[in-house]
Amino acid sequence: MAEKQFNTAGPSRPDDHYMLDPLQRIDVDEVLALIEAKRYFVLHAPRQTGKTTVLLALMQHLNTHGRYRALYANIETAQAARGNVERGIQAACSAIARSAQVYLGDARLDDWLLRGEGRAIEAEEKLSRLLAHWSQLDPAHPAVLLLDEVDALVGDTLISLLRQIRAGYAQRPQAFPQTVVLCGVRDVRDYRIHSGGGDIITGGSAFNIKAESLRLGNFSREETVACSQPDLRTVDRAGAWMQRSGINANGMNACRATRTTEQVGSRTVGVWGM
Ligand SMILES: Nc1ncnc2c1ncn2[C@@H]1O[C@H](COP(=O)(O)OP(=O)(O)OP(=O)(O)O)[C@@H](O)[C@H]1O
Ligand SMILES: [Mg+2]
Repeated sequence: MAEKQFNTAGPSRPDDHYMLDPLQRIDVDEVLALIEAKRYFVLHAPRQTGKTTVLLALMQHLNTHGRYRALYANIETAQAARGNVERGIQAACSAIARSAQVYLGDARLDDWLLRGEGRAIEAEEKLSRLLAHWSQLDPAHPAVLLLDEVDALVGDTLISLLRQIRAGYAQRPQAFPQTVVLCGVRDVRDYRIHSGGGDIITGGSAFNIKAESLRLGNFSREETVACSQPDLRTVDRAGAWMQRSGINANGMNACRATRTTEQVGSRTVGVWGM
């Protein structure tokens, strides 16, 4: 197996990169409780804070435990369609169907969308019908959808996506996902969406089923140090090492906007700073 690297682009993968356990960065029990309670919620944080890495780890965690069928999908390709609902929703549906193939080895969503019933369904309900179809394929294992880059979408495409998810909500978990997590840079209530009709619609009104907004924390100094040192690969150990070394993590939460290097012991490591 190739040697692990420090990741500087895209989500981190345990087999390829030195990394912190992404699930330590969220309150897994709180997330599981929300899923258990059939809630829909938002996970948001600024760019490059590890959102995608957390969602991928959460998908794996849920699928390993076997109670739910979790699926991660990045729908940012729908951004190019701008306010064109036909193209935007088709792109979002394709991203979900493709993800099911890649992550779950399940080609049935793609079949439905490209060769089956989905072909004849209007964009205004194609996404909700796709999710209903997916949920009904295996009712013993409720579906959990982790949608990434939701706020990359704009205009009527974003409004349609939010409303289609809201429309199916009452049918969960038998005929709609038990939980949908919307992930992006902003909280859904802060979306200000310009519709083709000239109105401005807020995300909160188009998606008034949200139970909770979870904010993923920025990488702390401790986490950065932990990741940079093979022998300190847990936050606990890094904390102890920083204490011994007289490094004070208090108030030093790093906002990951720029990357610099810093000498840690005998190594030069990447450090994210304000
Ligand atoms: N668990 C982790 N341990 C160590 N480094 C991490 C971890 N998660 C993320 N990173 C670092 O953060 C970078 C960005 O991760 P990721 O793509 O998951 O963030 P993101 O918030 O989804 O970013 P974007 O907003 O650009 O989509 C990775 O390239 C890696 O350098
Ligand atoms: Mg991301």
